[in-house]
Amino acid sequence: MNTIKISSYESGSQLREIVRCCGAPLLLLDCNTVRHQYRSLSQALPGVEFYYAVKSLSHPDILKTLAEEGAGFDIASSGEIEKVRSLKISPRQTIHTHPIKRDQDIRDALRYGCTTFVIDNMDELVKFLPYKERVGLLLRVSFRSDSAVVDLSKKFGCSIENARGLLEAAAKLGVHIKGLSFHTGSQCTSPDKQVEAVEACNVLIRMHHDLGAAPLSILDIGGGFPISYNGGAIDINSFCMPICRALAQLPPYVSVIAEPGRFISGPSMTSVSTVMGKAVRAGMHWYYLDDGVYGSFSGQIYDHARYPLEVFSDKDNRLASVLAGPTCDSIDVIAEDILLPELNIGDIVAGHMMGAYTAASATEFNSFPKTKIVTLNQVNLPIFPSIIPSSLYSSTIH
Ligand SMILES: Cc1ncc(COP(=O)(O)O)c(C=O)c1O
Repeated sequence: MNTIKISSYESGSQLREIVRCCGAPLLLLDCNTVRHQYRSLSQALPGVEFYYAVKSLSHPDILKTLAEEGAGFDIASSGEIEKVRSLKISPRQTIHTHPIKRDQDIRDALRYGCTTFVIDNMDELVKFLPYKERVGLLLRVSFRSDSAVVDLSKKFGCSIENARGLLEAAAKLGVHIKGLSFHTGSQCTSPDKQVEAVEACNVLIRMHHDLGAAPLSILDIGGGFPISYNGGAIDINSFCMPICRALAQLPPYVSVIAEPGRFISGPSMTSVSTVMGKAVRAGMHWYYLDDGVYGSFSGQIYDHARYPLEVFSDKDNRLASVLAGPTCDSIDVIAEDILLPELNIGDIVAGHMMGAYTAASATEFNSFPKTKIVTLNQVNLPIFPSIIPSSLYSSTIH
């Protein structure tokens, strides 16, 4: 369920001003929130190097902001390579994390200068034979998790038992595997699976070392760091504390990296849509917005997310209502059976925590163009007050 906040009409004046000058619908990208999230995660996981998952939101302004903060980038396609290349981001700051690649994808990454790749099976390993002098690989291990909203170990990763065989095969073929990686799933509701994964990788890293093999000197703990969509309480420090304890048990020659996406991009964008039409159908008040699940709200379909919504009204009435998107498809409904004050055409509906897997998966169905992204606070000075109330981007989970 989306949570709905009804705020005073006056408190929407800043958003109305932005709509007056930039039109609607919009996505507001607040670089101050990007910085805040990046720094919070860095503090919660000291000593861990971050490679931002470009797939979650690839807008140039978030990439530039993170590059200035010193972040690296997790890229997974030739298109993402083009995005970081065009910003003159050094290939040394990137890792290619897609476990399944075409030869052309490998060559595109190598031409750019990225030399760290991920594999999880024998077919993928042999693809690197022609390039073995130039690459260092991470072996992705699968740890299935039912506490993650999106299970990312179903589709990728080998079992810890198969990992040993793959490490031996790579050694025989002369392909350098320099570390292990895992991703226990996106929007994890508990750190337990990450802790289990770190512990299992620790055992494998030590066994490998005891065999006299070249050390596995990198552990990539993936992403999955959660944000609070609709209230809740575990802050990022509490989430990361047990992970830090497990990481402290790793041998000293292991460096730890992570690939956070959602935690950084999620809270950094707010959607601003307006009511473009209304109707009463079977006693229900329908409001048709200029953005919907084929657009910025696509994460409600693909990412299983429910975004906190906010409307601005001084009316006291509460009517059974539906917020729908603009397309002709009946699946294009953002929230149903909700109680709202009566809205007028042109009224604004804000969607918070809408940075991760939103614009990234939006379509142009019905030829509605993708929602324009407007960047705030590009310069690291509080010129524009943050549009996103701090209570909504706090690093907490349900
Ligand atoms: C390989 C890889 N790394 C990192 C991420 C980012 O994960 P999250 O947004 O949960 O931090 C994903 C998400 O799909 C992924 O597939």
